[in-house]
Amino acid sequence: MCGIVGYLGPKGAYDILIQGLKRLEYRGYDSAGVAIVDGDGKLHVHKSRGKVANLEQVANAGCTAGSLGIAHTRWATHGEPNDVNAHPHVSQSGMIALVHNGTIENYAVLKKVLKDHGYEFKSETDTEVLVQLIEYIKLTSSCSLPEAVRQALLQVEGAYAIAVVEQNDPDTMIVARKSSPLVIGVGEDEVFIASDATPFVGYTDKVIYLQDNEIGVIRRNQPLQLISLHNNEPSAISIQKLQLSLAQLEKGGYDTFMLKEIFEQPSTLRDCLRGRIVDDCTRVVLSGVELNKERFMNAERITLVACGTSWHAALIGKRLIQDFCQIPVEVEYASEFRYGNPVLNNKDIVISISQSGETADTLAAIQLAREKGAFVYGICNVVGASIPRNTDSGTYIHVGPEIGVASTKAFTGQVTVLTLLALSIGQLRGTVDKETLHNILSALDKMPEIIKEALNVDPEVKKLSRVFSYAHNFLYLGRGYNYPTALEGALKLKEISYIHAEGYPAAEMKHGPIALIDHEMPSVIIAPSDSLYDKIISNVQQVKSRGGAVVAIVSRGNTAMTDIADFCIEIPEVPECLTPIVASIPLQLLAYYIAVNKGKNVDQPRNLAKSVTVE
Ligand code: AGP
Repeated sequence: MCGIVGYLGPKGAYDILIQGLKRLEYRGYDSAGVAIVDGDGKLHVHKSRGKVANLEQVANAGCTAGSLGIAHTRWATHGEPNDVNAHPHVSQSGMIALVHNGTIENYAVLKKVLKDHGYEFKSETDTEVLVQLIEYIKLTSSCSLPEAVRQALLQVEGAYAIAVVEQNDPDTMIVARKSSPLVIGVGEDEVFIASDATPFVGYTDKVIYLQDNEIGVIRRNQPLQLISLHNNEPSAISIQKLQLSLAQLEKGGYDTFMLKEIFEQPSTLRDCLRGRIVDDCTRVVLSGVELNKERFMNAERITLVACGTSWHAALIGKRLIQDFCQIPVEVEYASEFRYGNPVLNNKDIVISISQSGETADTLAAIQLAREKGAFVYGICNVVGASIPRNTDSGTYIHVGPEIGVASTKAFTGQVTVLTLLALSIGQLRGTVDKETLHNILSALDKMPEIIKEALNVDPEVKKLSRVFSYAHNFLYLGRGYNYPTALEGALKLKEISYIHAEGYPAAEMKHGPIALIDHEMPSVIIAPSDSLYDKIISNVQQVKSRGGAVVAIVSRGNTAMTDIADFCIEIPEVPECLTPIVASIPLQLLAYYIAVNKGKNVDQPRNLAKSVTVE
């Protein structure tokens, strides 16, 4: 949800910023812009609607001269995605330029005050208000830029990660954050800033995660200074080592990041499982549970909060925890939970699930849960993101950077960690028997190979995808563990192909959606050999008798569906609770190829962003 990047050092800033923006483009691609302060102190600002590639067309040579700059890639919130609303925004005098990720909630009030003082606004954005406010404070109080930024931020309500530069000062950049992420990369004689660490990879592995309400004052050839927003006192600097490689940020020979990420799943699941299944598959070790045994022993209820794909993983998590831990579980959309006046106490555990660790609704939900006394556990992919830093404990899924906007490897990683978590709590509470534990852990241990085998359906699914060029609607049906898999399959299709797709519990279909079925409405049925297999067969027959085409995802060797469904895609057989992980593979591929056949940009689908840091 908007990406910001900045550079101060001996090199030309422009190329570094453009490369950084390209790595951050997953956060939004409605517009892009750059502001460079050249060696003579002249400010050059260029911005353009659309992707970073468009910006490159309009930026001129002046930009390449400076070694201080800030840049932005936008996911529009306030104002339509056009050149004027693109960042950087510049103050009335043209002296100060600012990029911002977040939302200034009280911008209308501040704008009115500034207008009363004669300020005029070019854009419809909340961000322009902030840069004008900084200038107004600087001019009226004759203070330094860092102090003007600090005083302005004290008046701001909302979320922000900002970077600010000033004409006539090619040696200073100011950054600050509250609720939106900001990372500082520290090189030998250069400093990088960005919404995440990907723009620094290849330059430095030393990073500082700026804390909420902290301001960073970055000056050429001087030590970095961090100060507290509220008391203007210096804060301690903690430098961490970044574990990211360039190869993880490249397509590695695939046409798209999404396809790469689908095919990476054997290795990402290996990384996710590493060191967590021990003693010949008889025991699971999750340090987050081991360190908080009492909390898990005494838990009376678990609530899972998440958004989108992570919410689908949470639905599977509910079933896993109920089956193996016998604890009541609720699943909530984070956006509903945060305003739903949840009743929680210190016997409650709230588990948040988030790939990015930056989703605003999920972050707000866990903050509320903590205020109400619940123990908050985070399941996250991005190391050091806001959600893991705001939870009591947690587990990383360790699937590496997910760059395609449509989540694939993060989903299978989340379900894998939820399985380990449920088994770990069950092991602790004595609610899972040794044989079940061993069977599931043995199968999980083999999951990388099983997924590799599942990926062999790729050519078959690619061919099948062409059959559905006629379809404007799809129904995805599943039961039990695979009802959430159906929801996830439908979400994948709609977000990258823009085809309407509805996920539904297969047996509920007869209560309404069956009215939609005709020869133009294909159904995808997730029907591995599980405890509800016979039941789902009759649901499929109901679809077939209304003329709808059926694609069934079935366990290898199970032929009962062959005569009923139009197309069967086989997946390796695994214990029932692991079927969502394996069944997701053909669903990801089907959505992928249907979208590619339609010529869509699968990595950057319209209107979406990878990291949703606004409400
Ligand atoms: C997944 O394909 C989506 N792009 C989206 O639903 C995503 O899962 C959701 O925004 C939550 O993100 P998070 O996991 O980073 O919190």
